[in-house]
Amino acid sequence: MSTDAIVLLKEDHKQIRRLFTEFTNAGENATATKGRLVDKMIELLTVHTYIENECMYPEVRKLLPDIEDDVLESYEEHHVADVLCAELAMMKPEDERFDAKTTVLIENVTHHMEEEESEWFPKVRAGLGRKQLQEIGARMIEMRKQAPRRPSQPSALKKAVDAILS
Ligand SMILES: [Fe+2]
Ligand SMILES: [Fe+2]
Repeated sequence: MSTDAIVLLKEDHKQIRRLFTEFTNAGENATATKGRLVDKMIELLTVHTYIENECMYPEVRKLLPDIEDDVLESYEEHHVADVLCAELAMMKPEDERFDAKTTVLIENVTHHMEEEESEWFPKVRAGLGRKQLQEIGARMIEMRKQAPRRPSQPSALKKAVDAILS
């Protein structure tokens, strides 16, 4: 299996998109199914955000200072998704705003993943060597093992607090 950082992140995106499509196609009354799908979305997004925020973004920012602005925009986009995930994690699928909030999460994250895949990843691949991308990927695989899976876990909360205070 490849440890190329971009390949790994794209694989995550694919899984996340699959859940988004399932949610969108679930139908008006599929409350239990939607609750389960959102639970899974929150888990995948919490892990994915953790490895990007704690590894991919800081590494790329250090190695390719020219694309720092893209990294800063990504932190902000992740922050918006974090807030929505944290709110959804406290809601029940029967709540009036559950579907609407999930739709906004899907729209935001879809936009962000498209931007990463069509603009940011190509810049990163052009700027970094294959070996560097494999090393970053190998570190992300390690980090994934300790990554928070729920927004309420301390390592996820710390990230949210840092985003507000720093
Ligand atoms: Fe991202
Ligand atoms: Fe991503």
